[in-house]
Amino acid sequence: MEKFIQNLPKAELHLHIEGTFEPELLFEIAQRNKISIPYKTVEELRKAYQFDCLQDFLDIYYQGASALQTEQDFYDLTFAYLQKCHTQNVRHTEIMFDPQTHTDRGIAFETVINGISRACEDAQKQFGITSFLIMSYLRHLSEEDCFKTLEQSIPFKHKIKAVGLDSSEKGNPPSKFQRVFEASAKEGYIPLAHAGEEGPAEYVWEALDLLKIKRIDHGNNALQDAELVKEIIKRDMALTVCPLSNKALKVQPDLTQHPLKKMMNLGLKVTVNSDDPAYFGGQVNKNYEEIQKALQLTKADLYQIARNSFEYSLLDSDTKNQYISELDQYYKMN
Ligand code: ADE
Ligand code: ZN
Repeated sequence: MEKFIQNLPKAELHLHIEGTFEPELLFEIAQRNKISIPYKTVEELRKAYQFDCLQDFLDIYYQGASALQTEQDFYDLTFAYLQKCHTQNVRHTEIMFDPQTHTDRGIAFETVINGISRACEDAQKQFGITSFLIMSYLRHLSEEDCFKTLEQSIPFKHKIKAVGLDSSEKGNPPSKFQRVFEASAKEGYIPLAHAGEEGPAEYVWEALDLLKIKRIDHGNNALQDAELVKEIIKRDMALTVCPLSNKALKVQPDLTQHPLKKMMNLGLKVTVNSDDPAYFGGQVNKNYEEIQKALQLTKADLYQIARNSFEYSLLDSDTKNQYISELDQYYKMN
């Protein structure tokens, strides 16, 4: 199975670029920027990656991201992730970035976007990987702050495919961002959002009805509402599920109790993703491997998940079909 997963053509649809910041690279970048970090060694930093909930993780994630200062830093971070995609047969990726994490500490929007997008262009040339960028608003900040970010993004609109909503979910419902999502859609950005990770099913309803999202990041708690499950199926929307993230953040006590297979049996379209691989113990293939073992997924299940990853990507239908025929070919031979 490990080999089958390794070579399976796939797309990653839920990935925060700041969450790919491995301790080794973090130390290297902090040193070259002459920034001190409150850990002496890579090992000590890795040991701090123990979380009881989403907020525990976010505190350390924002602290890590503050080492990023220059366009080259954002380039190096992104290119390192794309190299890992290449070795895992990730053919397409949709990368979230959190501009406010950087602009709020004085880094220019263009520094962030130019570094990330140049790495994406180089990876397409070198490895043939396609990618899109998703500009994610931080939901613990005000809607007004998000409007500022939307404005800053306009000169770079051609580099951004979609908007997302991430950070602390509880107490920050989608309704808080209805107007900025409306304005973002008017600019041509496709609306997406984290919903039902720690927050209730009600937040998923709001994300659907008020933010008019096209895909749900996580969505685990949607299962608590049968009407909502029906609605998600009716609207043909996918969930970007992140097994190792759910385990690390105690959204799910352990992977044998993870609802992914149940979601599939209900008729929901699921994909498997790494979320913040540097913090949660594994890249996308490790997520496939661990959830396969825990739930005894078959090759047919894994094929379906990989197929969903292309089908529910933001790619145009010709490119989707190309990737799906590559996947079909692989599945037939393996
Ligand atoms: N930002 C980075 N990872 C996140 C997650 N899993 N949930 C919410 N915000 C995030
Ligand atoms: Zn996420």
